[in-house]
Amino acid sequence: MAAEPVKSLFLISGSTREGSINTAVLKTATATLASHWTASIYAGLTHLPHFNPDLEQSGPPSSVADLRAAIRTSEALLFCTPEYAGAMPGALKNLLEWTIGDTVMSGKPVGWINPSTAPQRAAATYESLRTVLAYTGAAIIEDACLNIPVGRSLISDTGTVEDPTTRERIHTAVHTLTSPIN
Ligand SMILES: Cc1cc2nc3c(=O)[nH]c(=O)nc-3n(C[C@H](O)[C@H](O)[C@H](O)COP(=O)(O)O)c2cc1C
Repeated sequence: MAAEPVKSLFLISGSTREGSINTAVLKTATATLASHWTASIYAGLTHLPHFNPDLEQSGPPSSVADLRAAIRTSEALLFCTPEYAGAMPGALKNLLEWTIGDTVMSGKPVGWINPSTAPQRAAATYESLRTVLAYTGAAIIEDACLNIPVGRSLISDTGTVEDPTTRERIHTAVHTLTSPIN
């Protein structure tokens, strides 16, 4: 039997913080992928220039071209972001703005994990993420958009979530997003 072709999941954290809970959730997500999937967590958020359509005139900046290429060549995207001051981090909104004038996200299956433990669970941020993703043409996979509260105490020294129940819930989100893709 032929081996299944390798698929790629691109993961985007809205946090640029060392020791980020959101990034820890994404690291954990990569560990739950089926063997024919590879994963890459975006590491360039702090290096993207502020969105400016004028910068497209002579071709996009290399960091933007790299971001778009990573999205284009992935089969699915998984987001995980904190809320700051009632909204998504500016750095994440900036990233999304760079994808709008391009078709890289069009039809791309997208899910998210909201790890907030706050009472309102960063609701405004994920509503806004939904709105902005609609402009990109991404295909939001509703069942792969989950609230999975992750307190700081659940993050291990290796920067992943070790709590079995929470890992299982993260696995469910990843599986729901990736398993229909063949
Ligand atoms: C300046 C500041 C503003 C924040 N505003 C909110 C907020 O509006 N809503 C919320 O749920 N959490 C808010 N938080 C909490 C962060 O979302 C929380 O610390 C989160 O874990 C940060 O994500 P990270 O660990 O991935 O960096 C805020 C934190 C800071 C430092």
